[in-house]
This record gives sequence, C-alpha cells and structure tokens, in this order.
Amino acid sequence: MTSEWQRGGGDTVVRDDWPEEPTPVLREWLPDNEDPARPTMVVATVDETGAPDGRTQLLTAWDASGFYLHSDDRARKVTQLAHEPRISLTMHLGADAHQITVQGVADPADAEELEWAFAHRSPYLQQLAWQNTVEFARLPRLDRVKAWEDFQADHPDGFTAPPTWTGHLVRPTRITFWVGSTVTASRRVEYTRSVPLGPLADSSWTVTQLAG
Ligand SMILES: Cc1cc2nc3c(=O)[nH]c(=O)nc-3n(C[C@H](O)[C@H](O)[C@H](O)COP(=O)(O)O)c2cc1C
Repeated sequence: MTSEWQRGGGDTVVRDDWPEEPTPVLREWLPDNEDPARPTMVVATVDETGAPDGRTQLLTAWDASGFYLHSDDRARKVTQLAHEPRISLTMHLGADAHQITVQGVADPADAEELEWAFAHRSPYLQQLAWQNTVEFARLPRLDRVKAWEDFQADHPDGFTAPPTWTGHLVRPTRITFWVGSTVTASRRVEYTRSVPLGPLADSSWTVTQLAG
C-alpha cells in the first residue's frame, strides 16, 4: 500500500488511498496491543427484550481475527451475548478526530487469549477482577477501602485470573473509519463483508466512501 497521509488542516490527518482490506488502517489508528494505554469504546449489545444496551469498555487487543474485550462472566453483557451475539463497538480516538465503528458477532475468547489478556491488565484491574462483586459494591466505603487493602496484602505476588474472568472476540462484518476535518467535511470509509468469517486481511471486503 502506498501511503499518502496528508495533514488535512488543523489536527486532522486524511488519506485518499484506502487499502482493499482494513488492517493497514487499524494498524495506523490503534495502539500496539502491548501498549498499556488501551483505547476505550462503547460496546452495544441487545438485551432480552430487544432493547439496545451500551457501556464503556477497554479494547484489550485486536488481531487478524477481530477485536477482543474482557469482562466478568456475571456481567449483563455476557448474558446478553450468550443469547444474541450481535454486537457493535464505537471507538473515539481522541484528538486526531478519528472514530472506528464495528458491527459484528461476538464469540467467547479461547483460554490462551484469556490468559494473555489477564496478564496484560494493570495490577489494579487484575485485583478489580476479583473484587468487582455486588457484595463488595454494597459495603460501606471505609469497609470497601479496607477490604481492598487486605486483599492486596494477602496477594504480595500479584493475581492470577479469577474463574469469572471472561472475554469475547468480535468478528466484524462492518468496520467504518470516520475522519474528521477542520477544513473540509468529515467523511467515512466503510469496509463490509457478508459473513464474519476468515481473517480481516482478505479480499472479501467491499469498500465504500460515505458522507461523515
Ligand atoms: C473507561 C472505562 C473502561 C471500562 N472498561 C471495562 C472493561 O474493559 N471491561 C468491563 O467489563 N467493564 C469495563 N468498564 C465498566 C463497564 O462500563 C460496565 O459498567 C460493566 O462492565 C458492567 O456492564 P454490564 O452490566 O452492562 O455488562 C469500564 C468503564 C469505564 C468507564
């Protein structure tokens, strides 16, 4: 791919030579999976009544298969995904006026990936994975602080993943890149494919330019 990134005015970078598949753009727009500063995203699922349900989560990582997110298996979203695996992700990538939206299907992540993901969580988030329970949340504040400190003191060597640690791989059928601008109209470039199968870097994508 020839790269023709240009300063589009103000703080915005634009390109005209969009590749035939989305991975070169994902590689440019998203931090490396080893970067501890993870992007946040709004994760939308569908509840048992058919109503949309959204919340913020970290994008743990992405690879040739799709996008990974992690949670507790008692979370509402996990129950919802077991019944309705269709999902959307919305990432606003800050000052560069970039947004990535993803529509796809969520599959449970495999054991090896779960282990990798937990090892890449910060010590705070690893401890949270153990103590993020309804019982804990309902304690008075001072008791919560003390229980947190006590748990930390009991685990001087750090944490392994709790049995409730879980995650999903989102296999996309649609990835849309939104590019903002201060000197011209924003616009989107959308990659679509009919089935969420196969690696991202293949030739099954249709690329469409859309208004912002
Ligand atoms: C910045 C931010 C990042 C978050 N990251 C995660 C995450 O990676 N995984 C997670 O389960 N919850 C995360 N949360 C909490 C969720 O927004 C949500 O409250 C929780 O997962 C329960 O959601 P549910 O009951 O709809 O499943 C995050 C919240 C914020 C504000």
